[in-house]
Amino acid sequence: MLFLALETSCDETAAAVFTGDREILSNVVASQTDLHAPFNGVVPEIASRAHLRNLLPVVDEAVRRAGVALADIGCVAVHNTPGLVGALLVGVSAAKMLATALGVPLIGVNHVAGHIYACRLAAGRDIFPCLGLVVSGGNTALFRCADPLSLVLLGGTRDDAAGEAFDKVSAILGLGFPGGPNVEREAKLGNPKAFAFPRAFSDDARLEFSFSGLKTAVLYACHGQNITKASPTPAGPKRADLAASFQAAVVDALTLKCKQALRQTKLPRLAVGGGVSANQCLRAALTAMCEKEGAELIIPPLNLCTDNAAMAALAVEKYARGEFADADLDAQPNFL
Ligand code: KG4
Repeated sequence: MLFLALETSCDETAAAVFTGDREILSNVVASQTDLHAPFNGVVPEIASRAHLRNLLPVVDEAVRRAGVALADIGCVAVHNTPGLVGALLVGVSAAKMLATALGVPLIGVNHVAGHIYACRLAAGRDIFPCLGLVVSGGNTALFRCADPLSLVLLGGTRDDAAGEAFDKVSAILGLGFPGGPNVEREAKLGNPKAFAFPRAFSDDARLEFSFSGLKTAVLYACHGQNITKASPTPAGPKRADLAASFQAAVVDALTLKCKQALRQTKLPRLAVGGGVSANQCLRAALTAMCEKEGAELIIPPLNLCTDNAAMAALAVEKYARGEFADADLDAQPNFL
């Protein structure tokens, strides 16, 4: 039994082929980074148009790399929520068309649940129940995951996602897009204690995040509070100190809330997904925290952390339960 999965929720156009045993036969991702870089962030309309151009060639490549034919596909899966609605619609429409043309079932997959499921793929065994942290450009939230399809939101960000903060701080520091890898590189040269940036909600038990004040704090530290027009970004060690101090604040906030959530829920393991989980400082901090708390930590390799279609192998679980979608499957921008 072969599945073809599509991902177009943000700025990666992706397709994957996997088996009913969750063996990933191909995982193709076409990045749109160059298109969005001039704007220091993802422009939804540009993303939708690029998905339209790229999706079918990406599907062809995924099928080719898997060494199968399109006619061998027995089920089509697609991330239909959450994400940019115009971007999601491209994937959902293409998935409906492919499922109809092939005469096979269609399955809608929640992208956030897929990020947690990437940990199941990486572990190669059952990881549920677990605490799930999804930390990306669009989402930063903690979930109680009783099983792959039952995610209960414990708390999320009040404003920006952590990845969005990385991207905007990168723009403030003149480091370009996407921000995460660039800020991480710059931070290696700096002192994480040089600036005392805020860690929101660090003195209470609520499992929430906030990164917009942190962004503003970096902006003020960089340019001062009387900003009338953008002044030159700092160069040299100060910029590295700002990057390192910002990164430390994000890592501290994420790690603290994971620790509190593990203690509150008594769940045995933490599964982490989303682009920001590529960050080495975050990985090191979560590793140290989980060791102390006696919890298992699962973070997938980089190609399964950032947006991809292989994580839609969650469709295998839905297939087993007979949870199929029909022609009115819709793109749903918010996490439900
Ligand atoms: O999950 P993802 O690929 O898709 C979106 O939600 O868009 O995550 C992308 C986000 C971006 O905001 C990017 O800056 C961030 O993940 N990111 C990182 C790193 N690599 C990617 N943030 C911090 N450190 C990194 N190494």
